Amino acid sequence: MWIFGYGSLIWKTGFDYEVRETAWIKGWARRFCQASPDHRGTPEYPGRVVTLISAPEDICYGVAYRLPIDQLDQIVEELDYREKNGYERVTIDIHFRDRTEPGIVYHADENNPSFIPEEPLQQIADRIMKSHGPSGSNVEYLMELNRALKAHGIEDQHVGQLAALVVN
Ligand code: SIN
Repeated sequence: MWIFGYGSLIWKTGFDYEVRETAWIKGWARRFCQASPDHRGTPEYPGRVVTLISAPEDICYGVAYRLPIDQLDQIVEELDYREKNGYERVTIDIHFRDRTEPGIVYHADENNPSFIPEEPLQQIADRIMKSHGPSGSNVEYLMELNRALKAHGIEDQHVGQLAALVVN
C-alpha cells in the first residue's frame, strides 16, 4: 500500500517504508488552512499547518511511500492518531512518472472544525512566527517543509512565499 505525504509526512516521516518516490495528486493544492492546537500550537493559540484544498486545475507534488505489509496496521494506527485533529484518511490516485497507483492521504476538509479559510499570507506568517506546540515551533514546521520540498525538486509558491515572509 502507498501513502502520499504533502506536509510533515515529507520531512518528519516517522515510519518504516520500503520505497520512497516523488509523486503527485491531481485537483488539489497545498495550503496553510488548518489550525494546529495539538502539534504546532495550543488550544489557546493554534498554529497553522497544511491541508489540501480543492483546486481542479492544480497538481500537488509530494512524496509517496510504499508501506511494508507486515507493519501496515500499526503504521496506519499511529498515523491516524498523529493526524487526528481534523484529518481523514482517504483513498486517492497517486501519480508517478511512469504509472498511477491507488493509495491513501490524510486530508482535513473544509468541514472540519479546525479548517481556516485562506487568510492573507502575512497574517499566516505572523501566526506561524508566534506559534509553538508540543511538537515544536510552527516556524520549524514551515521551514522544514520548505527545505524538504526544495530537496525533492518541488516548487510550491504558497510555501515558498510564506518561508520568505518568515525569514525576513
Ligand atoms: C501530510 O503530511 O501528508 C499531512 C499533513 C501533515 O501532517 O502536515
